[in-house]
Amino acid sequence: MASGDVATELTRHLIVPVVVLDNPDAAAPLARALQAGGLPVAEITLRTPAGLSAIRQIASTPGLLVGAGSVLSVEQVDAAAAAGARFAVSPGLSRSVVERCREVGMVALPGAVTATEVQVALELGLDTLKFFPASIAGGPAAIKALGGPFGQVKFVPTGGIGPANLGAYLALPNVAAVGGSWMVPRDAIRDGDWGRITELTADAVAAAQAAGKDN
Ligand code: 3PG
Repeated sequence: MASGDVATELTRHLIVPVVVLDNPDAAAPLARALQAGGLPVAEITLRTPAGLSAIRQIASTPGLLVGAGSVLSVEQVDAAAAAGARFAVSPGLSRSVVERCREVGMVALPGAVTATEVQVALELGLDTLKFFPASIAGGPAAIKALGGPFGQVKFVPTGGIGPANLGAYLALPNVAAVGGSWMVPRDAIRDGDWGRITELTADAVAAAQAAGKDN
């Protein structure tokens, strides 16, 4: 899949599940639970030691789009790419991380919440950005306001999003998808409660589709 296709695929699903794994062996059943709920995407964060190994275990799962989250350094870009990640999400904007993603053929989805950050991201050739932490950084009103001068930019707000407010974000024309962890609770992963994850995922997919977004 070319990187442009990965970006399209990423936003087509409207939701990017943000996964924190404590045990890499949970990766495969978790991926199956997400797929069963209708969301064949997983952003596996590198904030736990299990993250890279988890990516490696599920990167070749047919029909599943796997990326790395919490990517903070060039070294992590390299490690994520070697593990098979197709995209790299960062909480903030780092020129070196974005440029390395391009070199290794991974889609970069860095965070940007101020006009200055968005402008720098544009200079780096990006047009789809994470907006983190969405609920603290001004929520839907801030994203709407950024849409004035930055009409060409799409955002993936993440942080503090759940069933009660995802519709307000997805209703905005400059929101491509939302990210969040509400459908993959850490305790459910730890307890192997895959049925709960599938149920939460199916509910999330239904809520996103009801928001009437057509990416
Ligand atoms: C994160 O970095 O943990 C993500 O932004 C997810 O945020 P959430 O747990 O509020 O959905």
